[in-house]
Amino acid sequence: MTAPPLTEPFTIGGVEAPNRVVLAPLAGIGNWFVRLQAKRFGAGLTVSEMISSFAIHHRNEKTMRDLLVIHPDERAYPGPIAFQLFGQDPEVMRSAAATAAEHGADIIDLNMGCPVPKVMKNGAGAALISDPAAAVEIARAAGEGSGLPVTVKLRSGQKSGEADGYQLALRLVDEAGVAAIAFHPRSAQVKHKGSPDYELAAKLVEQLPVPVILSGGLSNTEATLAAREQTGAAAVMLARGALGNPWLFESVLGLRSEPPAREEIVAELSWIIDRASEHLGEERAARYLRTFYPWYLEQLALDKPTLIAFQQSESIDQVRSMLAELEPLTSAA
Ligand SMILES: Cc1cc2nc3c(=O)[nH]c(=O)nc-3n(C[C@H](O)[C@H](O)[C@H](O)COP(=O)(O)O)c2cc1C
Repeated sequence: MTAPPLTEPFTIGGVEAPNRVVLAPLAGIGNWFVRLQAKRFGAGLTVSEMISSFAIHHRNEKTMRDLLVIHPDERAYPGPIAFQLFGQDPEVMRSAAATAAEHGADIIDLNMGCPVPKVMKNGAGAALISDPAAAVEIARAAGEGSGLPVTVKLRSGQKSGEADGYQLALRLVDEAGVAAIAFHPRSAQVKHKGSPDYELAAKLVEQLPVPVILSGGLSNTEATLAAREQTGAAAVMLARGALGNPWLFESVLGLRSEPPAREEIVAELSWIIDRASEHLGEERAARYLRTFYPWYLEQLALDKPTLIAFQQSESIDQVRSMLAELEPLTSAA
């Protein structure tokens, strides 16, 4: 059976996404301006970075101010926004999901794939793959608390060669009414390394009556389209491939065939700087953006000292003037 084109809409528990290209949840990265950027370049659904259900439940100030926020500009573009929550306590999840709904989420996504020890040691993230009964209870509670469709993002299993994540996906849909599964077919053990098991993803697509959103290894257009073809997944979820490269959304959607010009890359970085400053204020943005600079600047093939100067920059003003100095260089190219 051929899957519909990625440009066609699909629905998750009755919520429609205008196309099948999704921004992945990215911890420390997927705030409103990164989601807005993905929407500007065509993403049909965006997912927030993972947010602690405990932090929401206890109204942690930084969480409420920095993470549980949808910017009005995100709503200028079609397509739902999901907040991804993590945690191991069903009652806390019920309350956090209710609050996430009050703060504008269209979908609640649950993280059952995070392999980070800090998260797993509390029984959250990928630890839930080994506790399917708790996972089902948490998913039910999220749905009841929020009144929204619930999706779950998980991995193939705890260890390579195991399929406990696959089994959990079946149970979550069957027993908790989960509306879609975002499937990253790498084990928690290998974190982000190695080849995803697309065969297992294809099997899940066949088995599940709800959409499977494929994650993992979708680093460029060719890889994304090939993995989509192989699995028949309802949608694809772009992660590391989209860091500093929002053009990947356009390319996967068939809206663009050329790589971005140098001017476009500089202009996009400049947009990120403006929006990060709006979000965090210039002082915090200056520190926060240091990880973002190489994603953009490495595409310009700048010399090492220039790259280092950006990463060691002290202020947004300094970065803006360094960017202005690059402009003649980029327009000459
Ligand atoms: C920096 C970083 C942060 C991530 N944060 C999250 C997260 O908050 N929640 C989640 O479910 N997955 C998270 N992931 C996993 C990605 O969503 C995605 O499943 C993974 O990177 C595989 O896709 P890729 O090979 O195309 O990058 C993260 C990955 C990276 C690299």
